[in-house]
Amino acid sequence: MKLNRLAVALVVGGGLTLGAVTLTVAQEDEPRIAFPADFASEFTLYMEIDRVQNPGQVMRIYANDVALSGLDSEGRFPAGSILVGQIFAARTDADGNVIISDLGRQIIGNPAAVAVMEKEEGWGDAFPDELRNDDWDFAIFSPAGERLDRDLNACRSCHAPLGDIDHVFSFQHVPLP
Ligand code: HEC
Repeated sequence: MKLNRLAVALVVGGGLTLGAVTLTVAQEDEPRIAFPADFASEFTLYMEIDRVQNPGQVMRIYANDVALSGLDSEGRFPAGSILVGQIFAARTDADGNVIISDLGRQIIGNPAAVAVMEKEEGWGDAFPDELRNDDWDFAIFSPAGERLDRDLNACRSCHAPLGDIDHVFSFQHVPLP
């Protein structure tokens, strides 16, 4: 949610301007990332991780072909790159404790959400430094693709400090050419 200021000029017949009032209206962020419905078949799965960020969850991370085509001369992903973090709850035992398998790993349970990073030319321009992730932006959906109402500035501020690796936590795992 953000606040937009609208300046409204009151104009009376004949073009006489009586005055201007400023209205402040609350408006949803314009959602600019669409649910990448075909990610599981069209994108490349490059990592499955017991989440560092949220223990008790497993994330499968996918990249589209644009992201995998290579970085630019400054080490950044090209416009059109999309990364998807498909989030699952880890399976728990009868007491609600996360089960760790004999391999020392969490076990994938129910799908929980689909987190998306997408980069397009100029998308980062409006953000202050602490929320800017080059030209990446963020969205999160239910497993079925409905947009979830989350504070996307939390996503932006946690990924923002990773400027050296273009804001991608799993950067070293991306199979770049
Ligand atoms: C407090 C830090 C933090 C917040 C908040 C956060 N992330 Fe992440 N994100 C991570 C970490 C760490 C990873 C690596 C996998 C893991 O351990 O979860 C990650 C991985 C990802 C990935 C896979 C690509 C990559 O960077 O490796 C996507 C996509 C992603 N996050 C999107 C989001 C979205 C969307 C939100 C907000 C709804 C969000 N993140 C909020 C820390 C964060």
